[in-house]
Amino acid sequence: MQNIDKIIDKWNADSDYVIEMMQDIQDEFKHIPRKALEQVTKKTKVPLARLYHIATFYKSFSLKPRGKFEIQVCTGTACHVKGAALILDAFERELNIQTGETTKDKLFSLEGVRCLGCCSLAPVITIGEDLYGEVKTADIPKLIAKYKGGEK
Ligand code: FES
Repeated sequence: MQNIDKIIDKWNADSDYVIEMMQDIQDEFKHIPRKALEQVTKKTKVPLARLYHIATFYKSFSLKPRGKFEIQVCTGTACHVKGAALILDAFERELNIQTGETTKDKLFSLEGVRCLGCCSLAPVITIGEDLYGEVKTADIPKLIAKYKGGEK
């Protein structure tokens, strides 16, 4: 709760900055806990329903705990044509989760997303802040090991 208060205070509990507060909360907790939204409501007087609307409208927010590293596999047209479905399947197998889930160790979350804007590199994925193009299914175990091993 102390961390949540610190974030809200950083933005002077100003209702004009609830999105920024929520971004900081998402970064800190890898999701937006209900308690955090309640605290934002209490301190900013922005209705809880409005905060839930924001949290569910923007894809970068999650109400469920996410992994330390978010893996996004582009399933846009160019990536689809170049085998995005196979890449997504390979991640699911390697991580032993389904798309939309988080690994038990809370290290990885897996999502299929729309065009990431660099179609010439298809198939494209992101892991955390890093972008990878021309990904092959054979690369996936190595990529996961790289992040598991704490290289990042
Ligand atoms: S379709 Fe995948 S980056 Fe555009």
